[in-house]
Amino acid sequence: MKNILITGGAGFIGSNFIPYFLEKYANYQIVNVDKLTYAGSLDNLLEVACHPQYHFFQGDITDQAFITSLFKKFDFQGVIHLAAESHVDRSIQDPTPFVKTNLEGTFILLEAARLYWLNEPGLPKKNHVASRFLQVSTDEVYGSLGPTGFFTEETAYAPNNPYSATKAGSDLLVHSYIHTYGLNAVTTHASNNYGPKQYAEKLIPKVIQHALQQKSIPIHGQGKAIRDWLYVLDHCKGIDLAFHHGKSGEHYNFGGNHEETNLQIAYQVCILLDELAPLPERNSYKSLITFVTDRPGNDQRYALNIQKAKNELNWEPKENFEIGLRKTVEWYLKMFNKNFNI
Ligand SMILES: NC(=O)c1ccc[n+]([C@@H]2O[C@H](COP(=O)([O-])OP(=O)(O)OC[C@H]3O[C@@H](n4cnc5c(N)ncnc54)[C@H](O)[C@@H]3O)[C@@H](O)[C@H]2O)c1
Repeated sequence: MKNILITGGAGFIGSNFIPYFLEKYANYQIVNVDKLTYAGSLDNLLEVACHPQYHFFQGDITDQAFITSLFKKFDFQGVIHLAAESHVDRSIQDPTPFVKTNLEGTFILLEAARLYWLNEPGLPKKNHVASRFLQVSTDEVYGSLGPTGFFTEETAYAPNNPYSATKAGSDLLVHSYIHTYGLNAVTTHASNNYGPKQYAEKLIPKVIQHALQQKSIPIHGQGKAIRDWLYVLDHCKGIDLAFHHGKSGEHYNFGGNHEETNLQIAYQVCILLDELAPLPERNSYKSLITFVTDRPGNDQRYALNIQKAKNELNWEPKENFEIGLRKTVEWYLKMFNKNFNI
């Protein structure tokens, strides 16, 4: 049995990843450390709460004594690092927790891994030869694209907001631990995820929530910013493959090959809601869409070249966007009716 540490497992991606991972592997014991900020909820993990190979600790990755004590107790053979402050708008309002969690938190995890896994630079301890740190990063570290082209793993970092800058900084810390100490680590970059369990401040759940409450649906600028959309379970499969089969020191892009403007996304969600939760007199939820001042310095377009993940990890996004979006909307409708986390 191998023990692995998953950080931020009560958030959107982590709470999709943990049940997937426990179902797939019988030989791992998972320790989930999550601070349970506004973005994390144990309601997201009810399905695994009693699983014998799952343990939850409420704690902060910036708490060095706490993280060290967990490494001592569980002798982790791997870290899958998801915990982060993750909302760009909040990072613009107040970057402080982003610097603390994303930069300092990642540093503390890397230090613990270095001290527990390595005897000296380049020389892992006998039982940690294969121990690995998986850094879950984002496409946003690459900056913004014009109307054409794709980010590859070779694209120079050019983060434009405090969220992406702190993610980029944490990726560079990971890079420095690989280069300086020979830490075994892999970094992944995913595009915008969608699916069940995402906190209601992000675009798709926000549109659903506002629509169902018949409040105006705020869309930044004219809704022209383009994002690439990846179903969360496809991302989870990519993290799993990179953790098990990625090459140390490498970066892998996981994109959905599905670009949409934010306005197109809002329209599609409204059309699904018109069908699944119709308003009286056949009114459309689209009429609730309202344009609000654009995010300062908003990135115009993100898109990822995923050839490397295809070639080296045999990964590609499998979910069809229309089906994935329908599943997502249906999940939120069920939760909304239960008045649960939305
Ligand atoms: N959501 C996306 O579209 C997307 C895309 C690419 C990469 N990512 C990255 O994936 C990771 C997970 O994203 P998400 O969407 O699930 O985020 P999220 O905001 O939904 O969840 C983050 C989780 O981290 C926890 N957390 C925050 N600060 C913590 C701290 N100091 N100590 C311990 N736990 C803490 C929160 O309680 C929450 O459960 C992040 O690193 C993010 O940058 C997300």
